[in-house]
Amino acid sequence: MQFKSLSIATLLATAAIAADSSSSATSTSSGSVPSGCSLGSSATATAQSDLDKYSGCSTLVGNLTVSGVLGSGALANVKKFDGSLRIFNATDLVTFSADSIEEITGSLELQSLTVLTTASFGALEKVGTISLITLPAISTFATNLKSASNILISDTSLESIDGFSALKTVDSFNINNNRYLTSVKASLSTVSNALELGFNGQNTALSFDELIWANNITLSSVANVSFANLQNVNASLGFINNTFSSLTVDQLKSVGQTFTISSNDDLDSVSFKNLTSIGGGFVIANNTNLKTIDTFSEVTTIGGALNVIGNFSTLDLSSLKSVRGVADVETSASNFSCDALKKLQNKGAIQGDKFVCKNGAVSSSSSVSHTSSGSSSASKGHSSTTSGSATDSDSSSSTASIKTSKSSKSKGAAAVGYTIPQASVFGLLTAVLSALL
Ligand SMILES: *[C@@H]1O[C@H](CO)[C@@H](O)[C@H](O)[C@H]1NC(C)=O
Ligand SMILES: *[C@@H]1O[C@H](CO)[C@@H](O)[C@H](O)[C@H]1NC(C)=O
Ligand SMILES: *[C@@H]1O[C@H](CO)[C@@H](O)[C@H](O)[C@H]1NC(C)=O
Ligand SMILES: *[C@@H]1O[C@H](CO)[C@@H](O)[C@H](O)[C@H]1NC(C)=O
Ligand SMILES: *[C@@H]1O[C@H](CO)[C@@H](O)[C@H](O)[C@H]1NC(C)=O
Ligand SMILES: *[C@@H]1O[C@H](CO)[C@@H](O)[C@H](O)[C@H]1NC(C)=O
Ligand SMILES: *[C@@H]1O[C@H](CO)[C@@H](O)[C@H](O)[C@H]1NC(C)=O
Ligand SMILES: *[C@@H]1O[C@H](CO)[C@@H](O)[C@H](O)[C@H]1NC(C)=O
Ligand SMILES: *[C@@H]1O[C@H](CO)[C@@H](O)[C@H](O)[C@H]1NC(C)=O
Ligand SMILES: *[C@@H]1O[C@H](CO)[C@@H](O)[C@H](O)[C@H]1NC(C)=O
Repeated sequence: MQFKSLSIATLLATAAIAADSSSSATSTSSGSVPSGCSLGSSATATAQSDLDKYSGCSTLVGNLTVSGVLGSGALANVKKFDGSLRIFNATDLVTFSADSIEEITGSLELQSLTVLTTASFGALEKVGTISLITLPAISTFATNLKSASNILISDTSLESIDGFSALKTVDSFNINNNRYLTSVKASLSTVSNALELGFNGQNTALSFDELIWANNITLSSVANVSFANLQNVNASLGFINNTFSSLTVDQLKSVGQTFTISSNDDLDSVSFKNLTSIGGGFVIANNTNLKTIDTFSEVTTIGGALNVIGNFSTLDLSSLKSVRGVADVETSASNFSCDALKKLQNKGAIQGDKFVCKNGAVSSSSSVSHTSSGSSSASKGHSSTTSGSATDSDSSSSTASIKTSKSSKSKGAAAVGYTIPQASVFGLLTAVLSALL
């Protein structure tokens, strides 16, 4: 079997790289680009002889597409590409090399190259965007990358992607649909937009041990994950439909928006010991083997809905003070106790208009609906039903009714910018409801 890997050696700090190149040769700062080295708005090379025309250029300005029936291609001597290089639909191309290029200001795109096995950009240190898309035969892709804003690797035959040892910051990092992929390692410390991995087959192990923060992270079909230093996810964090059995992210302190762990069939343990705040919804659902959820005892606030569905017998949210949205907790385990959640609800900590807590033995839920005369100390006396099968609890106030309800998917609440005084919960319910929509 071929050794299929992507190795991208060494790295420096990343400066933002302008993706746009100058649109005309004569306006470049050097002013010294020979006319043959300016491609106009774009040029296409379909044979090696077309590429040879640029061998006298140390800087090429413009966008070049390599396409057509050539079997191998080489771009010699060019050091800087002030524009983008696209190698597209060259269905006979087996190898391509451009080992002098140090910088591509725009993007380097390799796409739909059905027999390409080797691509070499051995001197490439800086690039705006790198995208490798539909490369079913690629076994080696080599660069010396130190700076890149966006990385996209999709539908390739790469088995490992582990050469990002010097790349510390990117805007986005997206690895999807690489069915042979077994390993992704990167030394990124920040991802200012999205880190996404998914659908790479079922055996991909990830290691992002130097990552400190990312704007958002979404992982699917991952077999093993390591985020040893991840402290903050500014927007959303989702682990959906993975095959790992344990998930440990103990340094994580906060998630700015929604936090989701769902449909991970093999997951039986989670550990998030430092997590204190979740800005959006908190969703743990359909992880069929997750029986114990006892690692969220430091979480104090949930800015959206609390939605925990499964077959768990413990759920420890002992520091929780506030849930801005609805709460829907349902388990098929009969020995799960809803008491702690009911206490929270009675204290007015659950601010959404629905509270459902059900276990396999009894069901207890309520929905609160508002009537127009908003009045007073409303949250008193509205405890939800405790036991027995779906009995109605009586409403004890004229301003609100609480009744058992079938559980339904809860709605995430947008964070609202004020706190609601307990005594006027129902008076403000209209405002809360509008914030929910
Ligand atoms: C190269 O293409 C990009 C968009 O893909 C465009 O913004 C840029 O102006 C082009 N460069 C030149 C020199 O035409
Ligand atoms: C790819 O190249 C083939 C010829 O080799 C051509 O028939 C086909 O239309 C091209 N596809 C695209 C999307 O350009
Ligand atoms: C990442 O977060 C940004 C906003 O912060 C959002 O627009 C974008 O859709 C998110 N992407 C994903 C994959 O969640
Ligand atoms: C997951 O990775 C850890 C180390 O990073 C390793 O010890 C463990 O065996 C891996 N588990 C699987 C299922 O690959
Ligand atoms: C994300 O959070 C980190 C740590 O709080 C912060 O340093 C960084 O500036 C934030 N990034 C964005 C894009 O908001
Ligand atoms: C989970 O992933 C598998 C394959 O990767 C797919 O067949 C299945 O539909 C996915 N399930 C969900 C709930 O997304
Ligand atoms: C929580 O974070 C602190 C410092 O940020 C760290 O010292 C501690 O080890 C973390 N806890 C766990 C369980 O990892
Ligand atoms: C959990 O599974 C149910 C039933 O298959 C589905 O309706 C629900 O959307 C799932 N929830 C999540 C968060 O995946
Ligand atoms: C819940 O887990 C128990 C074992 O702890 C198992 O016997 C039962 O079938 C599971 N129920 C569901 C609905 O998965
Ligand atoms: C709940 O019952 C399961 C068996 O169905 C048992 O393994 C678990 O320890 C029990 N949990 C509690 C908190 O009683």
